[in-house]
Amino acid sequence: MTIAIRYQTRNGNTAAFASQISAITETPAEKIDTPLTTTPIDLLFIGGGTYFMRPDKTLSAFMATLDATKVKHIALFTTSGGPETPTDKALTKLATEKGIPVVGHFHQLMGGKGMLGSKKVTLKPDQIQAVQTFAQTMLNEN
Ligand SMILES: Cc1cc2nc3c(=O)[nH]c(=O)nc-3n(C[C@H](O)[C@H](O)[C@H](O)COP(=O)(O)O)c2cc1C
Repeated sequence: MTIAIRYQTRNGNTAAFASQISAITETPAEKIDTPLTTTPIDLLFIGGGTYFMRPDKTLSAFMATLDATKVKHIALFTTSGGPETPTDKALTKLATEKGIPVVGHFHQLMGGKGMLGSKKVTLKPDQIQAVQTFAQTMLNEN
């Protein structure tokens, strides 16, 4: 199975989860400015934060570049300060419009963590366990 990981982060929270997914899938976690390979991807993990109830516009622009003939499935991982999941909803809509099924959704509520611009984020053990389980489930099911 061909896997890729792309993520957007401002303050490091989403990057910390991307790093855990990278470890489980043995795939490098790259920012969204790293182009996807030309070979088709079976499972693309896409991550992003929530800013004023939306994804970052660079991430929405990245979604617009995706091609359903090159990306078979998407698994989303998102973070936010509050309990709502507008980034997941927006990214799901963009993927669906592209004709690419979203096969998994992972979301973590970060509270105030990372709000002050910290770049190096240490996840709690239960967060590590949760995202590792998500990544492994995606591998097993796709
Ligand atoms: C400028 C800014 C705006 C934010 N707006 C929201 C928001 O509308 N809703 C929310 O739940 N969290 C909001 N947050 C919190 C972030 O979504 C949260 O810290 C997230 O983990 C950021 O991911 P990152 O560290 O990968 O950039 C905001 C954070 C920043 C810095």
